[in-house]
Formats: sequence, C-alpha cells, structure tokens
Amino acid sequence: DQIEKGGYDHFMLKEIHEQPKAIIDTYRGRMLADEGIIRMAGIDDNMNKFLNAERIIIVACGTSWHAGLVGEYLIEDKARIPVEVEYASEFRYRNPIITSKDVVIAISQSGETADTLAAIKLAKSKGAFVFGICNVVGSSIARETDAGAYTHAGPEIGVASTKAFTTQITVLTLIALKLASKKGEISKPKLRAFLQEMQMIPKKVEDLLKIDDKVKEIAAVYKDAPNCLYLGRGFNFPVALEGALKLKEISYIHAEGYPAAEMKHGPIALIDENMPIFVIATNKGHYEKVVSNIQEIKSRAGKIIAIVTEGDTQVKEIADHVIEIPETEEALSPLLTTIPFQLLSYHIAVMLGKNVDQPRNLAKSVTVE
Ligand code: G6P
Repeated sequence: DQIEKGGYDHFMLKEIHEQPKAIIDTYRGRMLADEGIIRMAGIDDNMNKFLNAERIIIVACGTSWHAGLVGEYLIEDKARIPVEVEYASEFRYRNPIITSKDVVIAISQSGETADTLAAIKLAKSKGAFVFGICNVVGSSIARETDAGAYTHAGPEIGVASTKAFTTQITVLTLIALKLASKKGEISKPKLRAFLQEMQMIPKKVEDLLKIDDKVKEIAAVYKDAPNCLYLGRGFNFPVALEGALKLKEISYIHAEGYPAAEMKHGPIALIDENMPIFVIATNKGHYEKVVSNIQEIKSRAGKIIAIVTEGDTQVKEIADHVIEIPETEEALSPLLTTIPFQLLSYHIAVMLGKNVDQPRNLAKSVTVE
C-alpha cells in the first residue's frame, strides 16, 4: 500500500501531485504548439458531425459534470457552438429533445457510471453522435460511444476526483480549440500562442503545488467551520462548484459553490463572521466585479480566502488570506485555480481525521442508478 502511494500518505495527495504529468500525458501527441496544430483522431474522423451540429450536449455526473461545465464555457467561447450541460441522471429521465443533429459528449473518469451510460444509450437511440471522454481504457462508456478521446491521467484511486478533473478539462480545451480553428474562429497565430501557453500549465501547476504549507495554514484556521461558500465567475464558476464538492466529499463540511454575482440572490443572507468564503478573483474574467463581491462580503464580516493572480494588490488589501496563482489565459485558469481547493480539502479532511481516500457513503464509481 505504501509503495503504491509513492511515499504520500494518501492516494488523493499522490494524485494531486501527479497532475503536472497527467496533463502532459493527456495533451502529448495531440498538440504541436509551435505549429498551431491539434490532432485528435476521434474529432478529425468525425469533423463534419461536430461542424454540422446544431448543438453539443454534454452529459456527466459529479466532478465530470463540473469539467463539462468548463467545457461549455470553452466550446461556446472559442468555437461558438451552442452547448448544454446535463446531469446524466436528469437527462435520461426527462424525455429530452435529442435529434441526429446533436452531438453528445459524455464525460466519465471510470467509464462505468450507470446514469451516464444510460444517457449515452438514449442519445444513440435518437440518432445523436456520441463522443466519450473517459479515463479508463476499454470501459463500458468508452466502448458504447461512437468515438472518443481518453484522458491519460493514469489510475485514480482516491474517491475524490482530482487529476481526472484537470485532464478532462485539458481534453475539452483541445476539442474547443480544434473546432475553433476548423471553423475559423481563431487565427493561427492566436492558436499557436494559446497552445504555447497551455504547454506552460504543467510547470505552473508544479509551482503551485509548492504552496502546500500556506494552504495547510489556512486549512488549520477554517477546519471547524460548519459551512463554507465557494464563489467564482465565468470559467471559474465550475471551479467554485468543484471546490465545494471536494470539501463536502472528504471533510463532511457543508459547502456550496455559487456564481459570484448570484450571491446577492440568496447566499449573502448566510454571511456572518463564522462563514469562510473562498473566492476566485483572478485578474482576468470580471475582476472588478468580483472585487466588489468581496467588498460586500467584507462589509458583512465574512472571512475571505481569495485566489488571486500573482502580483495582485487590490484583493490582498481586503481579503483575510490570499493564495496566488501564476498568470495565465483566463480560459486555462481553471487548471490552476482548482489546485489550491484540492489541497485545502485534503488538509482539512486529514486534520479532522477523516478517511480521505474512502469517504463514507461514497463510491469511486456509481454503477447503480
Ligand atoms: C462518483 C465519484 C465522483 C465522480 C462521479 C462520476 O460520485 O465519487 O468522484 O465524479 O462518480 O464518476 P465518473 O467515473 O463517471 O466520472
């Protein structure tokens, strides 16, 4: 067991630290950054299906659903194709409208989630083309889909998904850019620059993992909070959802993720001096708006832990704690902003003496409906 954990105390921590490599393994052979070329056989061979799609429907559960939401923001922003993201369990039971003009992207780490598999079968029966993004090679979902792309995260043992999430986002980024480039929505120089920046991400994740001690200090301050709120906007709204999910899953602290601007329509009522609020406030993506959300929290005595871009000064003045992430493209920032949240949940769960790798009531792969 110790050998399998590679010197880490838990699989989750090992898997968090494997992300730089997992991201590289996922894009390796698929992108030639300097040439501005993306090669993905499953997309290339079915390009007309994607280009003629009236919309793309992404189906998934859990963390994979959060990656799907990032995918929606990426594909709509870059490739200008309408995208819907659906919980597989809702989609399959609500008599959805699906036609042969739809492309469905199913995302699943295990490739065995019963609801996702059933959603795929339903979509296929209505004539939709179904593309899979799976981690486990030869899994049921990988076999059931018409085409697909594997994430190359390697085995994920910890029940709380970490490297599967970042590698799913990596694949979705490649898909969005590939479609954008084919549709002429992105120029070659811009694509090249974006891919070159993407190549910097693994090193930036690696640098970010070094802030572990700082995250641990923050974890020690907030580990006994009964409730936490996670806020983000744009590409980082799904990261807020995922941050809250990570905390719930392994520490059993109630946490909610919300779009930062939506806070005033409800969660703001919960804010008092006992409420830690984790806010993603990177320098691109509605920075000023998020800063004003942070001010609203501050004026209600909420505790603010902000994820900011290196060199930030404005948020630093207001927040109780800041965690800096390296500068990057806004669309790539989820690959960085999610890392401190993973570490934070991990440390809180360890400090509370919870079973990090096998939290109560949860299963790595849910093969029942
Ligand atoms: C379970 C796991 C989650 C995972 C979800 C979807 O709930 O505990 O970590 O995100 O299933 O799993 P999948 O294998 O389809 O990505």
